[in-house]
Amino acid sequence: MPARSGALREGEPVLLLDRRRRRYLIVLRPGGASDLRGGKVLHDDLLGQEEGRVVRSSRGERLLVVRPTLAEFVLEMPRGAQVIYPKDLGAILIAADIFPGARVLEAGTGSGALTMAVLRAVGPSGRVVSYEVREEFARIAERNIRRFLGDTDALVLRRHDIYDGVRPEDVPLDRVLLDVPEPWRVVPHAAAALPPGGIVLAYLPTVPQAVQTVETLRTSGAFALIETTEVLMRPWNVEGRSVRPAHRMVAHTGFLVSARRVQPQAVELPAPAAEDAAETEGDPDAPTA
Ligand SMILES: C[S@@+](CC[C@H](N)C(=O)[O-])C[C@H]1O[C@@H](n2cnc3c(N)ncnc32)[C@H](O)[C@@H]1O
Repeated sequence: MPARSGALREGEPVLLLDRRRRRYLIVLRPGGASDLRGGKVLHDDLLGQEEGRVVRSSRGERLLVVRPTLAEFVLEMPRGAQVIYPKDLGAILIAADIFPGARVLEAGTGSGALTMAVLRAVGPSGRVVSYEVREEFARIAERNIRRFLGDTDALVLRRHDIYDGVRPEDVPLDRVLLDVPEPWRVVPHAAAALPPGGIVLAYLPTVPQAVQTVETLRTSGAFALIETTEVLMRPWNVEGRSVRPAHRMVAHTGFLVSARRVQPQAVELPAPAAEDAAETEGDPDAPTA
């Protein structure tokens, strides 16, 4: 994976921000130029320089130059399919307990946002296999991933339909992450591919999809500890005396449904009622019986 410090180099993605916080993602090329709203920026003015400085465009606009974070890159990179938002990417890594060295299967690759987040979390000793059915999306994702992370042996991209099952060469697995329209169709395949303790997680935009996934997991006889969550993130404006929530926020993106692969005799363990769970966690506001 490319170094993300020191002087800016050829082929690196760089983020330029103008005084209105408009963002421009460019890729540095010797002799290259980018036409922005505030004028032209010459790449040779950036190559070999440190990030965190200001560059002037041909029209005198001042632009802050930084390497994009993963979240910034995901929001600005070319898209085929809709990406998973950064607020959900972070939650997915924790809910699915993605660890260094983990062997993860993902479907579908889409634009590669989740793939990149997982690749960084598993590190060079891990493996991420990602299935995608649409050739054009796979190509966009591959370009995005290479641009941000460089070449990595930890990634395997396959044109494969996850509904047809997990390919034998891709097991053993520790985790299965799903961002496809009908993840309930993958539950039997995930059950067959995951060892006891393994985690499956599906990302779902709508309530009916979440319900069908939970029901299928529940009746599969292979999964327990099924949890459904949603991440709400509210940005704040902090400027002088204007300290308040931002007027706009990303209200809804998707639900996270996760479950643990367990032995058949463990499936029947009763789920705690919401109140019991709150009490166990020491919530002082939890109602008492
Ligand atoms: C919403 S996008 C995934 C976005 C991705 N998680 C990201 O963060 O960039 C869903 C992707 O799943 C792919 N897909 C749909 N059904 C599939 C299947 N059965 N097997 C593999 N990929 C599938 C679609 O072509 C699409 O690219």
